Amino acid sequence: MTPAFHGRRIALAVSGSIAAYKAALVARLLVTEGAEVQALFTRSASQFVGAATFAGITGRPVLCEMFASDAAGERHVEIAKRSELLLIVPATADLLARLASGRADDLVAATALCCTCPVVAAPAMHPAMWSHPSTQRNVGTLVGDGRVRLVGPVHGEVASGDHGVGRMSEPEAIVAAALAALAPRDLLDRHVVVTAGPTVEDLDPVRFLSNRSSGKMGFAIAARAAARGANVTLISGPTALPTPVGVTRIDVRSAIEMQAAVDRALGADLGAADALVMAAAVGDYRPARAHEKKLKRGPGALELELVPNPDILATVGAARGGTRPVLVGFAVEADTEAQVVAYARAKLDSKRVDVVVANHAADAFGKDDNRVSLVTRDGVQALGPAPKSELADPILDFVAQKLREQG
Ligand code: C5P
Repeated sequence: MTPAFHGRRIALAVSGSIAAYKAALVARLLVTEGAEVQALFTRSASQFVGAATFAGITGRPVLCEMFASDAAGERHVEIAKRSELLLIVPATADLLARLASGRADDLVAATALCCTCPVVAAPAMHPAMWSHPSTQRNVGTLVGDGRVRLVGPVHGEVASGDHGVGRMSEPEAIVAAALAALAPRDLLDRHVVVTAGPTVEDLDPVRFLSNRSSGKMGFAIAARAAARGANVTLISGPTALPTPVGVTRIDVRSAIEMQAAVDRALGADLGAADALVMAAAVGDYRPARAHEKKLKRGPGALELELVPNPDILATVGAARGGTRPVLVGFAVEADTEAQVVAYARAKLDSKRVDVVVANHAADAFGKDDNRVSLVTRDGVQALGPAPKSELADPILDFVAQKLREQG
């Protein structure tokens, strides 16, 4: 049987509490179940446990300093990007306070601030500290922000011999919480092709037609699909976004280039992909002619002739004989909610796709958050407002469900 954490990349942050010795058992359980564990220490963690223990269990050096002369790039950014889960065992009152106020004053806090993956914390402290309004306020902030899930603390005896709520959960309970927080692997080995960003249609060497798409939605979908085990090909128009971990990226410029890249990724008879998510804002028109030299200014009006671009999604929809690949389209409109949904419904048939993610132009472009409706032949599901990274999962839930139904 595949181990529960097979190949999952987990950052295990240890802070300075007597309960830190139990973090070594957590590390051991995770490694035994196939996880790649990177241990991080706060500065006081090593007062309680030895780095050599964690290095021995995980097979990797423990990291404590934010800046190291031998490391390229920024450690906290690299760890946050690589990790599928940040597990904080134990989480002291001080660390919770620092996280709640958004501090980035050591490697653990900075990594937590940078993470888009789930964060699970196992608090451990004296019951008086746990029940203190300050700690409760900090915990309320962290949980309320939706960025940290807690496991424990539980009622029991603490290091001082006192009893109450503050004792850290047992390693098995922490590992179970870690498993529950990780994304499902329901797209394992599926090939998901995602398009993102704007297309750019050149008029001459310095001028072009484009749109305001930032690419954030498509990149979020690509990142989450990879986290759920898919082999992801991300075909992107020009954006400033970094490539998500584990994603194969193909950069394109024009709609014609995007279509060629999509065709290559889907393969002959569309047989090379399980799903196509067209999140790109493909330009509907391009200049009839791309001038080799910069167009000169003249005295009168300038007329531009535009010709239609191919509709990439509709072309794939028309070519699809059966149900593969699953097709996800997007619709951005600036009308009322009811009209946006009505347009999306019409697109289900005109483009022959399985779902249309409808959103309002005003809510969507360039922003980190979005509000969308998932429009299928069975109905409409409203999602958000929420960060685009959180909207990616319900969209992928639909894809995973469709693929499961198809066997
Ligand atoms: O028709 P409309 O542009 O609203 O459709 C949007 C959907 O169709 C998006 O999923 C977009 O990526 C896709 N599309 C396309 N080729 C075009 C225009 C849009 O694939 N030329």
